Parts: sequence; structure tokens; C-alpha cells
Amino acid sequence: MAVQISPSILSSDFAELAAECRRVGDAADWLHVDVMDNHFVPNLTLGLPVVESLLRHVDTPVDCHLMIEDPDRWAPAYAEAGAGSVTFHVEAAHAPIRLARELRAKGARAGMGLKPATPVEPYEEMLPELDMLLLMTVEPGFGGQKFLDLVVPKIRRAREAIAGRDVDVWLQVDGGVSDKTIEVCAEAGADVFVAGSAVFDAEDPDRAVRELRRLAEEASP
Ligand code: DX5
Ligand code: ZN
Repeated sequence: MAVQISPSILSSDFAELAAECRRVGDAADWLHVDVMDNHFVPNLTLGLPVVESLLRHVDTPVDCHLMIEDPDRWAPAYAEAGAGSVTFHVEAAHAPIRLARELRAKGARAGMGLKPATPVEPYEEMLPELDMLLLMTVEPGFGGQKFLDLVVPKIRRAREAIAGRDVDVWLQVDGGVSDKTIEVCAEAGADVFVAGSAVFDAEDPDRAVRELRRLAEEASP
């Protein structure tokens, strides 16, 4: 279980996107791109044309987090465009197993996201269909929110479910992850950490990523 850091560009300057991505240098394992449609969440960000363009300008693999309705229809195009990982929300998917299989078939890692109040237990049988499970640690929609501690026991249960099935599923946390909260997530079993404001609001984003990684590695079981 290796620690990976995925800075969320939601907190970056969208008018300078490629340059902002370079501010995290090669410290980041992924660039986390939050796609919001103003329906699944009450916010609108960017979509496929921006992701396609970003992919031409950065070498770091792109981790697309789709906070959109009807991902069954829209998500496969992100895999086709070359996103290394595509995460849809289970609350929005009509046929999550079919969608996960389609994403894999198109060459992406298949991720499935759960909002804070969505329990993990009903989806445990689906774990072999996934490459990553995303547990939101804030209500999705905005950067800079406060970490919801109530999700920590779910992180622990999700990690146990993954270990119990002997599958290689990454466990991602997203929302309010910072130098104050990353350790409790790592200790509970998360291994992929999204951080937006904690990275892009820092004076030196590259250093912020390295510090988050150090804290997570030290706290990992
Ligand atoms: C929120 C997004 C997050 C967001 C995290 O819905 O999914 O990726 O950018 O931002 P911070 O790290 O500031 O909470
Ligand atoms: Zn996100």
C-alpha cells in the first residue's frame, strides 16, 4: 500500500491551468480534476474539452473526479481522452458495474465515489470491479471545506473490506485533507490523498505535496 498524493486543481487559478499544474512539479502522483455539472452538485467547473487540453500540456497522470449526473453517458469519454483514472459517483450511476467495466475496457482505472452519508457496505461485492474507491470527506461541490471526522470509521471499514477480499483497490479520500487531517486518514487505511486548498493555497505547492506525503507515510499502518 503506497501513499499517493493527488492535488486537486479546483483550488488553482483556472486561467493559468497548465502553469498551475507545473507548480506541483513532479512531487504529485496525479492531478485531480473535479468535473461538476451544477446538477449532481451545486457548482459548475469544467468538462471534457478542458480535460483534453490539459492532457496535452501535462505529463502527470490525470485523475478525473466526475461529480455529474448520468456518468453512464459521460464518463467513458474521459477514459477515451486519456485520463489515467476516472471516478464516477455511485449515487448518480444507473449501472455502476457496467460503467466500471467500460472504463477499464477503455484503458482507465475505474473509480467509484461515495458521498459522506453513503454507506460502503452495500457495495462491498463490487470491489473486484473497481481500481479505486473514493470516500468523500466533505459534501462534494466546493474546495476549502472542513474535514468530516464522521467518515473516518467508514475509511477503516472500507479498508477492512478491501483487505478481506484480497483485491488491489486503492482507497482515496477527498475533502478537507491537510497536514492536520491526513494522518488520521492514513492511519484508518486510505492510501490516495486528494488535497486542493492545502496544496494550491500554500506558498510552495511542491513542498506542500512532499510534506503531506511524509505525514501520510509515517501514519500508514
Ligand atoms: C470537492 C472536490 C475536492 C476539492 C477538495 O467536491 O471533490 O476535490 O477540490 O478541496 P479541499 O482539499 O480544499 O477540501
Ligand atoms: Zn474531488
